[in-house]
Amino acid sequence: MKKWFAVIGNPISHSLSPFMHEAWLKESNIDASYIPILVEEGKLEEAVKGLKLLGCSGWNVTVPYKKEIIPFLDEIDDSAKGIGAVNTVVKSEDNRFIGYNTDGLGFIQSLGPIPSKPLVLLLGAGGASRGIAHALKQSGISNIFIANRTHANAERLVNDLKIGQAIELQEAEGRLYDFDIIIQTTPQGMKNQENTLPIHLHKIKEHAIVADIVYNPLVTPFLEEATKYNVRTINGLGMLVHQGAIAFSYWNGIKPNSDKMVERLTEQLGGNYVNR
Ligand code: ATR
Repeated sequence: MKKWFAVIGNPISHSLSPFMHEAWLKESNIDASYIPILVEEGKLEEAVKGLKLLGCSGWNVTVPYKKEIIPFLDEIDDSAKGIGAVNTVVKSEDNRFIGYNTDGLGFIQSLGPIPSKPLVLLLGAGGASRGIAHALKQSGISNIFIANRTHANAERLVNDLKIGQAIELQEAEGRLYDFDIIIQTTPQGMKNQENTLPIHLHKIKEHAIVADIVYNPLVTPFLEEATKYNVRTINGLGMLVHQGAIAFSYWNGIKPNSDKMVERLTEQLGGNYVNR
């Protein structure tokens, strides 16, 4: 039977994953398909049964099912256990379905070269922040401060992951010169969201790196602000592509070309923006 892969979520029509994976399958000469599947509220368990029954070789999981899918899988890898969310399911040779999380590692790969022992500021304390904090810790980066609109949620993240410390947004803004890497993980700046900045950047350190996990628009108001200070900026497209590339390699044993895909998707989203 021809292999097939999928991405499940709700909504799903906006997902760039089918374009990305179909292109990689083609350039790797793998005879397989990758399709988006809309899973209606309350139908996740049935959908997972259906995927297994119909011979799906592996699938991605997106909002709002990354946590909810855990009980329906046979095994959860350490990455997904630590984060408490699954974004990739792999069918093993003995037909077991194993949940992984490639989001955090994908983000770290998208950063490119970083200074050694960096001091990191994470803005936001939701699922994305949790994934990135966990991956930072796994890669030996533990100097992490987390600032969030609701301070208690930042404290909870720090306690859950046993990592870094929570800090008020205002304090983070006031001592921004301390931080080597600043990572924006909230939906602020996304198309159709309010365009307020999580913090102002006038105290930013020279040669800092500013990353935003949002990729639509490619340049958020936060990144736009960062470019005024002549620091390296990184948008969320790299994270999307790298998390997908890791999933692709789990399924197919081949690492696809991520850099070329970032260029193609940038073009597709109507941008000519190049991460610096
Ligand atoms: P995800 O879980 O996918 O990362 P989310 O749940 O939509 O995304 O948002 C998570 C984070 O973004 C949270 O830290 C949230 O802050 P709260 O803990 O105070 O809810 C933050 N966030 C969402 N919208 C925001 C906004 N308009 N301004 C500031 N922070 C926001």
